[in-house]
Amino acid sequence: MKKDLVSMSDLTKEEIIEIVNLGIDMKNNRDKYCSSFKNKILAMIFAKSSTRTRLSFETAMLTSGGNAIFLNTNDIQLGRGEGISDTAKVLSRYIDAIMIRTYKHKDVQELALHSDVPVINALTDDEHPCQILADLMTIYEHKKSFDLKIAYFGDGNNVAASLAIAADILGIECAIASPNNYMVDEFIRNKTKSVIYTDDVEKAAKNASVVYTDTWISMGEEDQYEKKLKYFADYQVNKKLTSLCKDDYIFLHCLPAYRGKEVTEDIIDGQHSVIFDEAENRMHAQKALLYKLLLI
Ligand code: CP
Ligand code: NVA
Repeated sequence: MKKDLVSMSDLTKEEIIEIVNLGIDMKNNRDKYCSSFKNKILAMIFAKSSTRTRLSFETAMLTSGGNAIFLNTNDIQLGRGEGISDTAKVLSRYIDAIMIRTYKHKDVQELALHSDVPVINALTDDEHPCQILADLMTIYEHKKSFDLKIAYFGDGNNVAASLAIAADILGIECAIASPNNYMVDEFIRNKTKSVIYTDDVEKAAKNASVVYTDTWISMGEEDQYEKKLKYFADYQVNKKLTSLCKDDYIFLHCLPAYRGKEVTEDIIDGQHSVIFDEAENRMHAQKALLYKLLLI
């Protein structure tokens, strides 16, 4: 039966560990996998902008002998109102997997329901599971363990939600600090009982080995700029906050970053920052995910 990655909760603990380990092997032994995706084609549907996600999926396919087709929703009939189910059925006749970045999470669920080939969520308003696979790989590469504390600061939307789900599945200590009106969705909070949700940044930061933040203004929220900024001022990752973390903490950011807003320049460009390893690992982790969905 085909398997999709719509939510982080679609993967088991064993599957996540397998993808992280395979991603590391693929990074270290690139030649071994150079024709893994021979004759395989990935469709990449984008309704929002992207640098990392588009490039990492496309290069994952091309460097493994496969191909990828970029589909902007404005250029395909989906953007003019063709149904998601017809789109899923038509694409399933041509290609081997579908990756989609869009707004509504339920549109990706519907695409997965009607598609005969694996569907991968490449960011919705609710979740960003591919990002978290790369983040876990980056944490494991740098820390050699998941027996540590992750502290996330900022908006409790897509990235934070997938992070919380993954931490809960893997049993990683995780604290998510957000303003009360921007906490992770209640449904996900109830499903991830091991995660600490708080509006207290100091409580979250204490003893953290991984410090993570995301933009305060997500794609599609540009008109909320002024309104949101005033809630998030205390959630900035800066020297004062990181002084509460472990001395050897690593700093993660899914990017794109806004220096001086969610993170200060000295932290994002400082010695604890591993943001470019994290960005690179999008390609390796997704290659491992595709390997699992297409070939196992
Ligand atoms: N982190 C991430 O998904 O980046 P892009 O928006 O550039 O794809
Ligand atoms: N929360 C951000 C993540 C970008 C990768 C957004 O949705 O725009």
